[in-house]
Amino acid sequence: MISLRRPTLDDSVAIARVQALSWQATYRGMVPDEFLDTIDVDAWAKRHRGTMSKDPENFASYVAEEDGKIVGWALGGPNRDQRMIYSAELFTIYLLPGYERRGIGRMLMNAMAKALMSFGFDSMVVWVLTDNKAAREFYEALGGVYVVRGVMDLDGTDVPVVSYGWRDLRALLMATV
Ligand SMILES: CC(C)(COP(=O)(O)OP(=O)(O)OC[C@H]1O[C@@H](n2cnc3c(N)ncnc32)[C@H](O)[C@@H]1OP(=O)(O)O)[C@@H](O)C(=O)NCCC(=O)NCCS
Repeated sequence: MISLRRPTLDDSVAIARVQALSWQATYRGMVPDEFLDTIDVDAWAKRHRGTMSKDPENFASYVAEEDGKIVGWALGGPNRDQRMIYSAELFTIYLLPGYERRGIGRMLMNAMAKALMSFGFDSMVVWVLTDNKAAREFYEALGGVYVVRGVMDLDGTDVPVVSYGWRDLRALLMATV
């Protein structure tokens, strides 16, 4: 059975591994192979420890576990782009390859919406690689509305991205119960 909990600093390597394996399985052909093949899990884990030490009253993080194994992770917080009307941003949501389409993403989005609303955020945006059709369909299924396109700089390579927004987080909550 899948359960959600807030991660601790000790989870940072498992989280980084989930993220790295998910990138490698999902983004092949969308971002340079060289980037995917040289992901440094320990460096990502170190970065996560830094993020987790951030202001807990504004950043929401959840891991999904099955039989004590971390199989998913999501992180949200204040929108990095203050010019947008969306107050919060979903920074990451990744599942271990093989765990997709079992409702875990929906569970993580529900927890994220609740946590962000409890912090006082009322809306949320997420950026997704333009070619990541599965994730785009996921956000659309949960009521996310296309906002705008952009580019993400990945070690000097411009990768096209698009954003989806929820103007009212209560709608995301309703879509994920
Ligand atoms: C995107 C992701 C988080 C979605 O989580 P998930 O657990 O697979 O999705 P869920 O099972 O909760 O799906 C909820 C709904 O979204 C839609 N959906 C999810 N995956 C879909 C897909 N591949 N194609 C079409 N619709 C999809 C469906 O409507 C689904 O409901 P249904 O299964 O009852 O039809 C997960 O698949 C994942 O980690 N993918 C790889 C990493 C990634 O792309 N992350 C996003 C980065 S921006």
